[in-house]
Amino acid sequence: MEVSYLLGLRQEKSPGRVSHLTCLEEKALRYASNKEEVKVKDRGFFEVVKERRSIRKFKDEPIPESYLEKILEAARWAMSGANSQPWQFIVIKNREVKDRLASVYSRYREITLALELTRLEEYRQPAFRAPDSTQSIEAIRSRFTAWSKAPVIIALVGDPRLLQASTLAARLYEIHTFDQSLAICAYTIHLAASALGLGAQWISLLPPIAEAMKEELAVPRELVLFNLNAIGYPDYEPVPYRRELSSLLHYDRYDMANFMNMEDVQKYILHQRKMHASGGAYRVGSKD
Ligand SMILES: Cc1cc2nc3c(=O)[nH]c(=O)nc-3n(C[C@H](O)[C@H](O)[C@H](O)COP(=O)(O)O)c2cc1C
Repeated sequence: MEVSYLLGLRQEKSPGRVSHLTCLEEKALRYASNKEEVKVKDRGFFEVVKERRSIRKFKDEPIPESYLEKILEAARWAMSGANSQPWQFIVIKNREVKDRLASVYSRYREITLALELTRLEEYRQPAFRAPDSTQSIEAIRSRFTAWSKAPVIIALVGDPRLLQASTLAARLYEIHTFDQSLAICAYTIHLAASALGLGAQWISLLPPIAEAMKEELAVPRELVLFNLNAIGYPDYEPVPYRRELSSLLHYDRYDMANFMNMEDVQKYILHQRKMHASGGAYRVGSKD
């Protein structure tokens, strides 16, 4: 909540009547104001980048409208190929709409589940490993649509016709700045949410899910539903995992010391899976 703004509004509407605020109200506003200033002002760019986490379970608490506006405003300023700005935002708060999207997602999520279950358990994408040792399919399924409980979901829609803004050569060589621009826009949404003390989940959509959701959201045929971004107050604290910079860095030319052969790739993925399991990156329930 943009408390200073709210206070300003109250003063403007009824000049000189701020004293009519009850003691309790004043206390609550001051508390919220301090809390938010700490969140917003005390975290600089580098902290926001480092501390942003994907959040997959949200508190049942609405987010202030002013925060939503800030997030959308930040998204609007994302960089894009040839400044094409190929984005549109559908803000979803309506419970029925969220439930319909969740139902579409669950239905098609079965495709991903069936495929993931063909992999050895330790290689499965963490979202498809049961949160406890039961390996129960129902426990996995129950996490499919936790995002739909978020107070706000921003559906990111793209207009591929705006690719016309790119050079003809880029189009000839099929350099698709379209997806890249939308990804940057989505990331900006996530950074802005984090800067405001909120959490967000990026929900990728397989083409059949995106198509079915487009219908639910009445998105015109010409446009693309890029992803969903669920936003709310985090209900848990995931432990992050990142590779060491030294394993990623090269000076002047590619240093083969950091080249991974297929065996290394396999080892890395297993390691990464373990880190996710212990860090609870995909934890969504209180018990997992
Ligand atoms: C292109 C892309 C697609 C993603 N798709 C999903 C998704 O479908 N579901 C999900 O829960 N997280 C998704 N994520 C979030 C990643 O899983 C997450 O960023 C990663 O595990 C690192 O965790 P962190 O964001 O907490 O640092 C996606 C992120 C990106 C950039």
